[in-house]
Amino acid sequence: MAVKIVETSLRDGHQSLFATRMTTDEVVSMAKILDDAGYYALEVWGGATFDACMRFLNEDPWERLRKIRAVCKKTKLQMLFRGQNILGYRHYSDDVVDMFCKKSIENGIDIIRVFDALNDIRNLRQAVKSTKKYGGECQIALSYTTSPVHTIDYYVNFAKEVEKLGADSLCIKDMAGVLLPEDATKLFTALKKNTKLQLELHSHCTGGICEMTYMAAVKAGCDIVDTSLSPLSGGTGQPSTQAFNSALKGTDLAPNLNEDVLHECEPIMDKVVSKYLSNGTLNPKALTTNPNILTYQVPGGMLSNLMSQLKGQNAMDRYDDVLKEVPRVRKEMGYPPLVTPLSQMVGTQAVLNVLMGRYKMVAKEIKDYLHGKYGQAPAPVDEDILKQIVGDDEIITCRPADLLQPEFEGLKEKYKDIAKCDEDVLSLALFENVATEFLKNKYTTEKDEIEEFNLFI
Ligand code: CO
Repeated sequence: MAVKIVETSLRDGHQSLFATRMTTDEVVSMAKILDDAGYYALEVWGGATFDACMRFLNEDPWERLRKIRAVCKKTKLQMLFRGQNILGYRHYSDDVVDMFCKKSIENGIDIIRVFDALNDIRNLRQAVKSTKKYGGECQIALSYTTSPVHTIDYYVNFAKEVEKLGADSLCIKDMAGVLLPEDATKLFTALKKNTKLQLELHSHCTGGICEMTYMAAVKAGCDIVDTSLSPLSGGTGQPSTQAFNSALKGTDLAPNLNEDVLHECEPIMDKVVSKYLSNGTLNPKALTTNPNILTYQVPGGMLSNLMSQLKGQNAMDRYDDVLKEVPRVRKEMGYPPLVTPLSQMVGTQAVLNVLMGRYKMVAKEIKDYLHGKYGQAPAPVDEDILKQIVGDDEIITCRPADLLQPEFEGLKEKYKDIAKCDEDVLSLALFENVATEFLKNKYTTEKDEIEEFNLFI
């Protein structure tokens, strides 16, 4: 059967390669053309795009979504959603998660891809329920990692849980790009055998093996893969859409995308990429292959974070020590997948351990994690470290959001002077400082300016 393609250049492509800086005009100009290519979906929203829109581009993320929807008549639009964290960094109450799903679908999203850093299924439940309630298609993404607990059985069990939860499809989200071709064959063969869910693979080219892994996966029954238009492919991004489309030609698996349409989009994408290369936002290093990540099992973005933290401390000579410390900390923390926010947390703790002595200083987020505030660790955490850091404190064993009261109405009241619609309230709930500044700017009327002027005379 023909492999389906999800085009990621308008979300993960620029998020992975140039810090999510593509503007709404750039995104819309390409989405309009790509609508005719025959994709299963265009991934265009969520992830870091929401924050980046307001913080760096002074643009309204909700407006971006409506503009994309207006030009995409045929193709499904997809977003990335961090479970109970939505697009932010803390756990939100169920009614905020519900409202965010509702508004995303109302403004144009068809498919919500939901994941949880710890693969704690309890943190996904509300998002699945709400997506289905408002008529959306819900995909659960499983954060892929390797460890003694992350066996084929672990993934198969997860897939069965996902099916029970009522999701429409399952994605293996290999954020670090460490899934090897042979492991992909085993994994997708087992998943195909044990679930009826449509299966998708999302990976990154960082380690140089992604195209081989995709090939192995689709041959083993993976239905959908994520690729990125060629000027934005490779390196820390996804494999090239055009190349993948060509590679499967003449086989039953051929995706049959319209090559003329892809071709029409290339010069626009080329121009966009050149702009970010020449203004320094796109570091040419991000475009090259870095097989070190296969050794350290650390996502590319995390490696550059570690480097900048060490540079800031004038301690680049400890880089190798930190790289060795990362897997140790991860093991002690019960093998969390290294994806946001766990990648930053484990990385920061590894730096602290190397520079200050092991667990002499403990990051606040790691303390919260050990208190159960993020959900359940995949494997038991190290008992000595737990005792040392948590002591006699109570550890949360329920779903963290069960401890939260409904908060949307309270937020609406809190922001009533700045927010003009529920979408604004959600922007403020997720990124209070950034959204306050952005919305104040956006809604500054002439009247306010006159009043301010009067105040000064
Ligand atoms: Co990705």
